[in-house]
Amino acid sequence: MPDPASNPPSPATAKSMDEIMALCKRRGFVFQASEIYGGINGFWDYGPLGAQLKKNLRDAWWQDVVMNPCWGRTGPSGERVRTVPLDSTIIQHPRVWQASGHIAGFNDPMVDCRETKQRYRYDHVQVFTRQGTTSEAPMFAFVLGTETENRQRKKAEKKFDMKMEVVALSDIAPADWPKVLAPHAEAIGTLTEPKQFNLMFKTYVGATAGEDDVAYLRPETAQGIFVQFKNVVDTTRVKIPFGIAQTGKAFRNEVTPRNFTFRSREFEQMEVEFFCHESEALDWFSFWRKWRMEWWESIGLAGENLRLYDTPQKDLAHYAKAGSDVEYRFPFTAPGFGELEGIAYRGDFDLRQHAEHSGLKDNLKYFDMTRGEPLPNGQPKGEKYFPHVIEPSAGLDRGVLAILCEAYTKDASRPSPEIMRFHPRVAPIKAAVFPLVNKDGMPEVADRLHAELQGRFGRSGFIETDAKQSIGKRYARMDEAGCPYCFTVDGDTLTGQTVTVRDRDTGKQDRIALDKVGGFLAGKLGA
Ligand code: GAP
Repeated sequence: MPDPASNPPSPATAKSMDEIMALCKRRGFVFQASEIYGGINGFWDYGPLGAQLKKNLRDAWWQDVVMNPCWGRTGPSGERVRTVPLDSTIIQHPRVWQASGHIAGFNDPMVDCRETKQRYRYDHVQVFTRQGTTSEAPMFAFVLGTETENRQRKKAEKKFDMKMEVVALSDIAPADWPKVLAPHAEAIGTLTEPKQFNLMFKTYVGATAGEDDVAYLRPETAQGIFVQFKNVVDTTRVKIPFGIAQTGKAFRNEVTPRNFTFRSREFEQMEVEFFCHESEALDWFSFWRKWRMEWWESIGLAGENLRLYDTPQKDLAHYAKAGSDVEYRFPFTAPGFGELEGIAYRGDFDLRQHAEHSGLKDNLKYFDMTRGEPLPNGQPKGEKYFPHVIEPSAGLDRGVLAILCEAYTKDASRPSPEIMRFHPRVAPIKAAVFPLVNKDGMPEVADRLHAELQGRFGRSGFIETDAKQSIGKRYARMDEAGCPYCFTVDGDTLTGQTVTVRDRDTGKQDRIALDKVGGFLAGKLGA
């Protein structure tokens, strides 16, 4: 199991999203998609450092979920956790989305403001109202996790001479809607009734592009797993309990994309569908719920900004039997939290739906030779059933965003006042090698050390080298990019075969032997 994060918790509330976004742009972590054409709302590109950071997070997940599932732990059944990978297509047969319920039910109810033409997710709007009255007093609506909350609170405090309360817009009686002041409006009563919007992107397959050719970009990777369940069972030696894992793009035509990459229209998921017998499902749910939290801690999100939140029964999807979210306190959600990953106990809903809609019926069931009444020969008779499913479903882009927010640290006493304190496992630059000055034989030694480290560690990140500018400026650039270790070749290297190693988090420098640098870095990176 990787080392737990060494970063001390940093108060997310104190961090400015504008500053984090500015650093992301300046250092090539995240760019607006199609920026030279004015951008396109809800789409983001990852620059060189961001692409590597994202790959490192995806690789860490793949390593810990597929290659060495759950760090070799045993599950509630006493066996080691088993998973197999899959890579399914973005466009599936449209009937997949009928069976999954996405065509009929993948809707966000929205409310429009007639005055400002802004559109809000119905379930994200709350109102400040005078406590316990049904008077004529106005109600001040705001959108959860945005600056509208403070603005509307101030207005409400000015208006009300007694205590006020916060109520969900959906709990306001229709008769009281004319009293609601929309989050950005001047006049009251401008919000419309909620309307449904399907979030799936439509496209056409084939040249004729008629209504019969309509297809959808997948809104989740999960369904690709369910529809290949039988093929995986038939072609591998997996036995229940086991998981099928995949990472990949998902698309949702979000009506209000916002908060940087948090709610995007194109994003990446990392999902496991873990199949087990109904009698063990709740135990597996507890297992995954706990382990997923530990995993996010292990890659640098340990501390008070991370929490595990159990979804109240009334908020669960109709098919779900239990659910927990791993949540992070982003600067834009603080003091509240935003979801990074949902762990859901989905029952046998999905396999049953596909069995029904595909006509395969009982053929999608799993035959379990270890269960059932004992036969005269003492062997169990076997049992055919739809397995129950535990689904840990993580957002890769949200994970990257949480890592960026957690890593962002300001320290005015340092040459670079902005430092990205990435956990070494996900850091896009693993190390830098600098000649102190660009002469006297130092560049040649630095080049050799750089080539050695690149050959050894270059698979998981960049090994930088740079001979320009003062050494202080070069350290500052590496601090901003989140490089954990800088090795500097100086005059003593040539005489004593040692280099300095500088620790990003403390700024402290030590001397180590030139031929020990590889081993030192291997220990620090866990490689
Ligand atoms: N198969 C289950 C599923 O898709 P979900 O809660 O809708 O569940 C899982 O999505 C994860 O995908 C979320 O926890 C979140 O991290 C990520 N996600 C969902 N919508 C997103 C969006 N619009 N932008 C970025 N990430 C998103």
